[in-house]
Amino acid sequence: MLDYLIAPSLLSANFARLGEEAENVLKAGGDILHLDVMDNQYVPALTVGPLVCEALRKHGIKAPIDVHLMTRPVDSLISEFAKAGASNLTFHPECSDHIDRSLDLIHKHGCKAGLALNPSTTLDCLEYVIDKVDIILIMSVNPGFGGQQFISATLEKLKKARALITQSGKNIRLAIDGGIKPDNIREAAQAGADMFIAGSAIFMQPDYAKVIQMFRDELKK
Ligand code: DX5
Ligand code: ZN
Repeated sequence: MLDYLIAPSLLSANFARLGEEAENVLKAGGDILHLDVMDNQYVPALTVGPLVCEALRKHGIKAPIDVHLMTRPVDSLISEFAKAGASNLTFHPECSDHIDRSLDLIHKHGCKAGLALNPSTTLDCLEYVIDKVDIILIMSVNPGFGGQQFISATLEKLKKARALITQSGKNIRLAIDGGIKPDNIREAAQAGADMFIAGSAIFMQPDYAKVIQMFRDELKK
């Protein structure tokens, strides 16, 4: 059986109390913190920069921080987030002019490298770089906002991505991001996902532990 990771997305947390929210969601059973970085160009929203990642580390957060860059370009922010304590850095292929080089840059900083694929993006960009990829992040909504509805065509793409991973023989994480809820996490897992990013499903509920336990129960079925 795959070992599953639950990655709460801080996008739906209370930003006025971010350190506390991060601590609470980890105590509630989250495995890894997902931090959405939006630049008001590649996506309409504007969220946080490396300073906030560093602040979480200074606050005492020890869990891996999974930074999802929705920014164009990516290279300078890769370096800044790595220095700010990011563990994983995932970017969208269309945001880098030189994907292979950006992946190398992430590794040079000692972080894990991911590629994030929008609902309409094919898996083709992986063909010649899969050896440099640690995480494939399949977007099940269009990037830019929390609380959107899961796009079900994503399930087919997850299956194809899982087949590519098996073929590669590499230990690559297959993350799913967007619209993940207790009632659809299982089908995402069955399609091959092993890392589940969820924002509103967790943070919009009063009891984070209860939702995370519901996720785990679904994954056990
Ligand atoms: C969307 C972000 C997601 C977002 C998911 O662009 O990449 O990580 O936080 O939020 P939910 O789980 O509410 O769809
Ligand atoms: Zn994200």
